[in-house]
Formats: sequence, structure tokens, C-alpha cells
Amino acid sequence: MQIPCTKDELLILEKIAFAARKMELPCYVIGGFVRDKIIGRPTKDIDIVCIGDGIELATQTAALFRAKPEVAVFKNFGTAQIKVDGLEIEFVGARKESYRSDSRKPEVEPGTLVDDQNRRDLTINALAISLNKEDYGQLLDPFDGLKDLEDKILRTPLDPARTFSDDPLRMLRTIRFATQLQYNILPETFESIKENAERIRIISAERIIDELNKIMMCKKPSVGFDLLYRSQLLHIIFPELAALSGAEYIDGKGHKDNFYHTIQVLDNICPHTQDIWLRWAALLHDIGKPATKRFEEGTGWTFHNHEWIGSKMVPGIFKRLKLPLNEKMKYVQKLVMLHLRPISLTKENITDSAVRRLLFDAGEDIEDLMMLCNADITSKNAAKVKRIKENFAMVSQKLIDVEAKDQIRNWQPPITGEIIMQTFNLTPSRLVGEIKDAVREAILDGVIRNDYDEAFAFMLKKAEELNVKPIL
Ligand code: CTP
Repeated sequence: MQIPCTKDELLILEKIAFAARKMELPCYVIGGFVRDKIIGRPTKDIDIVCIGDGIELATQTAALFRAKPEVAVFKNFGTAQIKVDGLEIEFVGARKESYRSDSRKPEVEPGTLVDDQNRRDLTINALAISLNKEDYGQLLDPFDGLKDLEDKILRTPLDPARTFSDDPLRMLRTIRFATQLQYNILPETFESIKENAERIRIISAERIIDELNKIMMCKKPSVGFDLLYRSQLLHIIFPELAALSGAEYIDGKGHKDNFYHTIQVLDNICPHTQDIWLRWAALLHDIGKPATKRFEEGTGWTFHNHEWIGSKMVPGIFKRLKLPLNEKMKYVQKLVMLHLRPISLTKENITDSAVRRLLFDAGEDIEDLMMLCNADITSKNAAKVKRIKENFAMVSQKLIDVEAKDQIRNWQPPITGEIIMQTFNLTPSRLVGEIKDAVREAILDGVIRNDYDEAFAFMLKKAEELNVKPIL
């Protein structure tokens, strides 16, 4: 089969074939590389399977390159890797697994190509192309993976229960491929994911987040989250998100299904950003809703303070999912915390001081926050959407005007804690914070101008109220 390889890739494959021929080892290119070439997706790494010692083949292949790439050997897995022209080439000897009756642990032993194809996750990932002299370039496709690629179907080569039980991460991989490639999961395969969902518990958080992040970076991540929800995998790996689902009714009054709303918001933001953390902020913006849900007579359903509770939940979620506990997490927390602010501005008369305060609180992330708020409009009521969008445009304009006038975005109040401590001979304390906050608020509220002398005078006045005397 002719697959559209670049010249460099063809040269690499020919070198591998040459080394294998010298060793008299049958050898094949297999898996993601073959799949992606056939469907015209960009490829990253090349997986090579041979009938024999994959590590030795890697060593022999490396020796054929002028740069003599280093061979990284993973003894435990019986694999070896070399890097050439930014491509990772992974070598493995074909294997088959046999199960001893007294153990669930598979014993891995050398096998044929078909044995190796059998133990792969999906038919579309089990396609191999021969690198052997007699049939160089021939597609070896015992499970009709090519047809599944054409039909856009995801199915396991063997009984799905067996494939998923061998490595439960494959359930997530299947859902990730469905989202990335926009393919359908065969109903039997999906049923099996549902039945085996509990087995995901044995998979490490690191492997799980890898797949979740790949889903997050898809064009339409809602497809993946919906499948995760319907298979109940979500309830295990991300219970806070699953808890958003469902609409409750009391006295005929319901609220929207916050899970489907959330994944819609996530989809809405995707065309506007490739920043995974802004996408995470979209996914988590309403995460505090279940914990704050109340039914109030006369008002109906409320979620008071859900933005605050939600932002408090972020570190726990990040820690469990093994996402970074650094400034990226703080950024997500901040956006979750502020996500209602621009919209709440549109409900009142927009004062300069409210806009200044928002600019100050959002700082550098104001555009991202506005993007999130825009994505958060999912109402089906056209009149309501029109009204919100108009108000929203007004807030956007006001943000530009106030920023041009007052430059609040990267602003630091003119009176620092240091100045307060020196003026009043104070050590770091609550009192210092109180005076500092009062000066900042006075500027944001427009009580005084953003000017050092005015701020200094205000500081003295505030200190006097608090009975703090300056040193003379
Ligand atoms: N594979 C598998 N089960 C897994 C992981 C991988 O059967 N849990 C097999 C598949 O045949 C896959 C190949 O190993 O095609 C290579 O795996 P990997 O590089 O992780 O995935 P790709 O399919 O190449 O796709 P991606 O890089 O998008 O993950």
C-alpha cells in the first residue's frame, strides 16, 4: 500500500528495513503512524514491531545513521527508542499474552505479528505495513481496520471486555479517539466500556490526565465528556463534574442541566483559544453549583456564591487529577472566581468605579475573562441572548475606555505596605493591610485620584481614624 510518507520518513523506514534484513528479522511499521498516514493526519512517532529482539534491531538501526542516535532501552517493557529528525522511533519484539489460571497478570512471550495485532486497543490502531523484502509496503490488516477507518468506527480487535481488561486506559483512549477523529464507537464496544468502567480505578492519575487533556484540546471536547458521562467513567475519574448533571424541579420550577451547559461553554470557547488553562477554566466555571444549590420560595433555584466555592474547589481537583499546582492553577481559580463579574456589571448602571475594580481584579487576564463570559451565554432564548450580548458589548467598550483613561490593568497602588510601615513605624500586621486596602479602594472608587500625594494624604487620614500616629 502506498502511504504518503515524506522523503525523510521513507529513508528512515528503508534503513530500518535494511537493518532487519541483515538480522533476518521480519519487521513492520504499525499502529498510530499507519493510521494517521492513511487518514492524512500529522504523524509524530513511528512504532516498529519485529519478530525477534526489538532492542537489538534498534541498536542496529541507530548504527546506520550518520548522527548515531542514542538508543534508549526500556528493559522492563522490552522496548527501545531512537530519535531521528525529531521523530521518535520505538522498537518492540512482537508479543503474545497468555494468562495463567492462577493469576490475572499476563505473561508476555514472543509471538507472531497477528498475536501482536491481537493485543492492541482498536482495529484502526492494529494496522501494520510490511518492511520485508518479499512484500515491502503491503498492508496487513487482519481485523478490517481499514474498513473501520473508512466507516469511522472504533472497535476492539478482540472481545472488548478482554481488550479493556488488559489495559483499562484503553476505555479512555477509545473515547479520546472518538472525540479527536469524530468517529463513532461501536455500540458493543461502548457497552463494554460501561460494564468495565470500574476497572479505570487501577490506572494512575498521570495516564488519565494525559487522555483528559487530549480531549480538552479537541475541537469539540463536549463529545468526549458526554461519552465519559454516559459510560459512567466520569463519575469515577471526575465526580465533581458528573455532579453537575441533571435538572431538578420543585413546584414546576426547574434549573438548567449544568453539566450539559458546562460542556457547551467549553465547546464555545474552543474556536477562540488553544490555551488549555482557559479551556480548564471553562470546564470548571460552574463547578461550585451543586454545593451551593438551594430552592428559595418565591425566587426558585439559586446558586449563591458558587463562583467562590468553585474557585476554592480548584486546588483539590487539580491535586487529585495531577494537574500543576502552580500559577496555572491560580489562573483557573481566578477566572472561576470572576466569571460572573462582567455579566453582573451589565445588570446595573455601569459605573467607572465598578469597571476599574474589575480591571484591577482581572489584571492581565481581562480578555480571557471576557472570552469565558461570552462563551457562558448558552441560553436558547434569542431575545435574552440578544440583550446579554448587547450589554456585554457595552461592558467591553467601557473596559477599553476606562483602561485608556486610568490604566488600571497592571496598576499597583501608589502606597505600598513598606511606605505605611516606615511612616508609622509598624511591623507587618493586619493594621498595615487595612490602611493599604483603604487607599486602594479609595482610588478604585474614585474618592481620590491615582496620585501619590493624594494617596499619601488619604493614608494619613485613614491612620488617624484608626488611631495610628506617624513618627515625626
Ligand atoms: N496501544 C494499545 N493500548 C494502549 C496504548 C497503545 O494497544 N493502551 C497500541 C496501539 O496500537 C497504538 C500503539 O500502541 O496505536 C502506539 O501507542 P501510542 O503511541 O500511545 O498511541 P497512538 O495510537 O500512536 O496515538 P496517540 O499518539 O495519539 O496516543
